[in-house]
Amino acid sequence: MERRLFDTTYYVGACDRTKILFENLFPVPKGMRYNSYIIKDEKTALLDTADEAVSEEFLENVKDTLKERSLDYLVVHHAEPDHSALVMRVLEIYPSAKLVTGVQALKYLNQFTGCDLSARTQTVKDGDVLNLGKRSLTFISAPMVHWPEVMVSYDKETKTLFSADAFGSFGCCEGSLFISNLNHTEEWESEARRYYSNIVGRFGVNVSALLKKAEKLEIDNILPLHGLVFDRDCNFAINKYLKWSSYEAETDDVLIVYGSMYQNTKKAVEILSCNLFEKGKNSKIIDVSYTDFSYIISDIFKYKNIVFACPTYYGGIFPRMEQLLNLVKKTCVKDRKIYLLENGTWAPTAAKNMIDLLSDLKADICENKITIKSACDSETISQLKSLAEFISDC
Ligand code: FEO
Repeated sequence: MERRLFDTTYYVGACDRTKILFENLFPVPKGMRYNSYIIKDEKTALLDTADEAVSEEFLENVKDTLKERSLDYLVVHHAEPDHSALVMRVLEIYPSAKLVTGVQALKYLNQFTGCDLSARTQTVKDGDVLNLGKRSLTFISAPMVHWPEVMVSYDKETKTLFSADAFGSFGCCEGSLFISNLNHTEEWESEARRYYSNIVGRFGVNVSALLKKAEKLEIDNILPLHGLVFDRDCNFAINKYLKWSSYEAETDDVLIVYGSMYQNTKKAVEILSCNLFEKGKNSKIIDVSYTDFSYIISDIFKYKNIVFACPTYYGGIFPRMEQLLNLVKKTCVKDRKIYLLENGTWAPTAAKNMIDLLSDLKADICENKITIKSACDSETISQLKSLAEFISDC
């Protein structure tokens, strides 16, 4: 189907509504959208392809959009297969099309396809311009947003940033592709934060470097490779990325992540949450055993105050909590206030092990841990009250 976005820019992407796990890792209850665009100027350019799962719909969209015209350029901003799986198909269908990509992306495409695509490729680097007629694409390198070879491009005629994975989100949408058709731009936020924190959260420095380059551009439209198209509120998205890439928390409320084998640790965090509320502090409680890590990582990017609570297990940390904390370490999140609560019947050591595990994190780990011996007693109840007061006063 032909779907014009604005000017000579068309949408040719597609949704995979049957996808359960993106990258076989992240739950996508609303499926996954793979965006791809065509510019029809004096020259025609297809900007990225899509995932294998949507191949037929994507190729049909390309055909319906180009109509009688041939394809002059296939631009690859990012060589990851969710956007490049159909490069060979496109090059076969449009034999005169030139592949336009960076040297590193070409190397990765050759590796993925098992073919040497050099003869059909025009390599570009940071600052190079691809002229299409009235419009042109200026390439901007964006290493590690999300892979080393990533480039974004900017069209000054329509003030459009083709942002690759940046500003993407999980999920498909119905009807309009434009953010302007949401009732609230904030509706974009939670799945965009989950996407950002889990996919590129570790690369905050690289995302900041890209945002620095983007500062010099006038941006009216952001066209990412996933999720909605920004036809307004670009600054809302850019400001969110400025916050997320600097690991700045968005709320002083408290996130309580707990694991519990016999509900005693759970009871303790419920008491803590009530005490916090009485002190005027909101909290969110998450059971680590029943929540996908991607949602917890997303909240860890959002919350300033985080409580980890769990039983001792084999002289260490409750396994599901240990897995989570190992992942938290990999995100490089920083400037959080962390509070620990452990449970143990004969030798509680979970808190010490959590402190050791998180020691590389640039976070403020409160040394006043709470230890529950099997179940809450009057002493731990009093400590929970004091902890709530301490957190609220910080
Ligand atoms: Fe959507 Fe890094 O690929």
